[in-house]
Amino acid sequence: MGQTIFIPRELDPNEPRVAASPETVKRLAGLGFDVIVEKGAGQGSRITDQDFAGAGASIGSAGDAGKADVVLKVRRPTDAELKAYKSGAVVIAIMDPYGNDAAVAAMAKAGITAFSMEFMPRITRAQSMDVLSSQANLAGYQAVIDAAAEYDRALPMMMTAAGTVPAAKTFIMGVGVAGLQAIATARRLGAVVTATDVRPAVKEQVQSLGAKFLAVEDEEFKAAETAGGYAKEMSKEYQAKQAALTAEHIAKQDIVITTALIPGRPAPKLVSAAMVASMKPGSVIVDLAVERGGNVEGAVPGKVVTTQNGVKIVGHLNVPGRVAASASLLYAKNLYAFLETMVDKAAKALAVKRDDELVKATMLTDAGQVVHPNFAKAAEQPRTEPAAIPATTMVADASAKPAAKKAATKKAAAKSPSSKSEGTA
Ligand code: NAI
Repeated sequence: MGQTIFIPRELDPNEPRVAASPETVKRLAGLGFDVIVEKGAGQGSRITDQDFAGAGASIGSAGDAGKADVVLKVRRPTDAELKAYKSGAVVIAIMDPYGNDAAVAAMAKAGITAFSMEFMPRITRAQSMDVLSSQANLAGYQAVIDAAAEYDRALPMMMTAAGTVPAAKTFIMGVGVAGLQAIATARRLGAVVTATDVRPAVKEQVQSLGAKFLAVEDEEFKAAETAGGYAKEMSKEYQAKQAALTAEHIAKQDIVITTALIPGRPAPKLVSAAMVASMKPGSVIVDLAVERGGNVEGAVPGKVVTTQNGVKIVGHLNVPGRVAASASLLYAKNLYAFLETMVDKAAKALAVKRDDELVKATMLTDAGQVVHPNFAKAAEQPRTEPAAIPATTMVADASAKPAAKKAATKKAAAKSPSSKSEGTA
């Protein structure tokens, strides 16, 4: 008998994704595991029980969680789920541990070895395991689709016998993985795209996607990128200059998509109520940062708000989940790639290498203890404020980044349109 992997149906009603695909089930079975998928687990992602069974899984129920040596999930397990797991089980998910100390402590108490996929170091070796990138990429795409759906005009310029439709002016604020894909997608739909970020490295990437870069390029801007490639929180003075520059620009935009995040801090407020009020009726703002505090004043998590002046502010939750069938396939692959590094292939058994840098960066709890350095202290003494995430935990190998970044840009550029496909008339 091999060891058992269990893939549950996610309990959160707002979570249509699933942590395995027929392809990864087949591969997991190939590694020697017995794979049990809970009935209906793939339903929200259009993967049927038959698809999973055909790939070699047996279809089970929530009760099978107790047999599992490994549980693959999307969201952190609830207390009820934890109760069902056997002590010592490996549980891999997006654990969202910051500010959730009690939940982290509960995982330790349950005796599980919990891994937080969002802490995967952004090094070359772990690129295939980077859930932040795989999901943010789709979120960036979906943000443009959502904007287009709310917008009651056409995005591309159309020159027709009956007259000309102007192209939608689209502004992307924050150009990480999601922002780059948003630029590429908006360009494909024929919008005229501008973008801003506080990291200077972004300028060239924006331009290579055929968009215009707009930013306050002062001394602080030149030093705004951490060694790990993430943004720093900017000074009050910079924020004021940035707001002055963008305010004028936003007033002329039809669509604004915001994606700005700072690791471990609330999202920066980039669009004020006054800026929203300056936009034309019918304009659309999509705030992808809404779950992390929001970039836009007036954005409401889970709602599409229409302001008094007729501007729609879109605050959908779990945007990768809005393209669940795609998101699950990539997420499942991320998890498989990581789990594979923890399998002794000769013995066909789990062999967690506790000195591996990927394991060290992502392991939250083990053998009854909170082991992650960012949380171990919190577990000992109650804390009132969540600590900032040191960028080093998220990006352990900065030297690998430029190449990786280039590859990401290239990928986005490859997917961006040829000028021919734009401006369909
Ligand atoms: P993120 O999701 O943390 O933030 C999104 C964007 O918001 C970032 O570009 C950030 O600079 C920007 N931002 C923050 N504050 C802002 C403000 N006040 N105004 C405007 N923009 C603001 O970023 P993400 O997508 O995780 O990417 C971070 C970096 O990691 C990027 O350099 C990306 O290219 C790199 N990366 C590297 C990978 C690798 O080496 N394997 C994989 C994926 C990303």
